[in-house]
Amino acid sequence: MIDNNNLPSKFQLYLRRLIYFLTQEKFFKKLNYDWHKTSNRFDIINAIIDKKKFTSYLEIGCQADVNFSKVKVQNRIGVDPQSGGTHRMTSDEFFRQNKSTFDLIFIDGLHIYEQVIKDIDNSLKVLNKNGIILVHDCLPSKIWHQTIPQTHSSWNGDVWKSIVKSRSTDDIDTFTIKADQGLGLIFKRKNTDLLNHKITNFKKLTFKDYYQNHEKFMRLVNEEEIFELIN
Ligand SMILES: C[S@@+](CC[C@H](N)C(=O)[O-])C[C@H]1O[C@@H](n2cnc3c(N)ncnc32)[C@H](O)[C@@H]1O
Repeated sequence: MIDNNNLPSKFQLYLRRLIYFLTQEKFFKKLNYDWHKTSNRFDIINAIIDKKKFTSYLEIGCQADVNFSKVKVQNRIGVDPQSGGTHRMTSDEFFRQNKSTFDLIFIDGLHIYEQVIKDIDNSLKVLNKNGIILVHDCLPSKIWHQTIPQTHSSWNGDVWKSIVKSRSTDDIDTFTIKADQGLGLIFKRKNTDLLNHKITNFKKLTFKDYYQNHEKFMRLVNEEEIFELIN
């Protein structure tokens, strides 16, 4: 996902990459995802809304409304402190004052593990029965796409770690759809495939951990399988 909103200069990105290379993880194998060949997030969101007859939608992080403007639903709320959507505030501020509940919540705000797990927890509290949470940017292909801080113009952040945490949580059921940078799919129901992997600190997981345990950590599904899952 290209985040043009706060994009540091090319020089800053190179410098950060060099510092990261010298001081942090060195693991350069890549995953072979080609997002041009998959459906995009708004087609998947609209297909889910249609199929489930959902009427309420919340998007966290709207930017230029590329996605938000295409979502076809009766009631739409979009939250972003900078641009787009309907509410000019952070997701934390929104959840503090919000009294509504939602059928579908799309999390695509600050792409940092600590914020994404807060967004997931807060979303679960206002998700309608049989509602669905989608989380964008869960499948980075290269180490540079997931560093904190951002070191590449195409940046998913370490959102993937929040999916590994969700996969290890008993009362939510989590998958990752192989489409549009990886879409986490979270249901509020008992975990049907609890991740059995000793992890003491999710934030400290490495890209090598993600690469080597990819299927197991992320519980990957093809977009064609979504409708069997949401039935
Ligand atoms: C990747 S963009 C969203 C793209 C959009 N969802 C789409 O699909 O076209 C991320 C957005 O999250 C916003 N953002 C950053 N921190 C946030 C926060 N704490 N709460 C909500 N949104 C946040 C940024 O301002 C930015 O516009």
